[in-house]
Amino acid sequence: MITVRVTAIADETDTVKSFRLVRSDGAPLGPYPPGAHIDVTGPTGITRQYSLCGPPYETDSFLVAIKRETPSRGGSDAMHDTVRVGSELRISEPRNLFGLASGAAEHVLVGAGIGITPLLAMAHQLHREGRDFRLHYFASARERAAFQDLLEGSGFAGRVRFHFGVPRHGQQAALDAILSDLDPDQDADPNFGTHVYTCGPKEFMQRVTATASRSLPEDRVHIEHFQPPDPSGGSGEEFELELGTGEVFTVPADRSIVDVLAENGFDVDTSCREGICGTCVLPVLEGEPDHRDNCLTRKEKAANDQIATCVSRARGPRLVIDF
Ligand code: FES
Repeated sequence: MITVRVTAIADETDTVKSFRLVRSDGAPLGPYPPGAHIDVTGPTGITRQYSLCGPPYETDSFLVAIKRETPSRGGSDAMHDTVRVGSELRISEPRNLFGLASGAAEHVLVGAGIGITPLLAMAHQLHREGRDFRLHYFASARERAAFQDLLEGSGFAGRVRFHFGVPRHGQQAALDAILSDLDPDQDADPNFGTHVYTCGPKEFMQRVTATASRSLPEDRVHIEHFQPPDPSGGSGEEFELELGTGEVFTVPADRSIVDVLAENGFDVDTSCREGICGTCVLPVLEGEPDHRDNCLTRKEKAANDQIATCVSRARGPRLVIDF
């Protein structure tokens, strides 16, 4: 973990504040890959994940924007109410589960609400590299759109289209219109053609994904998750967990792999413990994981060679992991 100091706080909207962070030891922060997030441990000791939203190529500071959640899961209230300029926080190195496709011909960024944050970093980077992109930003009202002034005054303002006050029942028509001209370019290399990236409320991202997937292969539609996976899958069956070193443990229906390993003296690095951050992912040597996380990509899940051990389980009676 890195200790950082808050050097500026800005009210981006009435519910969103941005925090500029510099290393307390004066060393540079960044550059970082656009789309990356960091773990931030706030004043209450609760760790949450926030996307970095400043220009990724700058190395003097990180910028995060935090929306006050209602109800708060414990992190956002403390950041809004307790953290001041000069406060110190602990952060992780940036991790990127939402990267830009390096060879894509065009990037279409579609965000809603606080989901603008990783897309803003992507827009900075794409503009700097002279790449072809467009950014669609949905917000309930102009005054609820964080970074609206920054976007309108940016060098890429002409690539940004705002969609203010689109009612939920009107979202599909708006998405049909903006995602109707995607270049499918069915080249075998999944990096080519148009790529779509979306971040925002779960239902919004599902709509964007379904709409874009009418024209694009699914590996060209990228999703950033701010929420833990849907727990409706339940706890699941008991299974046998074997380590690469030969130890064997039983994982009961109501315990996670991380829990069972900890009880037996094996500590897996964790952060969110909700299947979001990717810290606890370990290689799978044998068996089929029952993926219940939101941190591995669809492609990574299909490969079945790694598992988020804080939430995911086994599909069969036995799983062997490299630990
Ligand atoms: S600890 Fe974050 S995904 Fe498991």
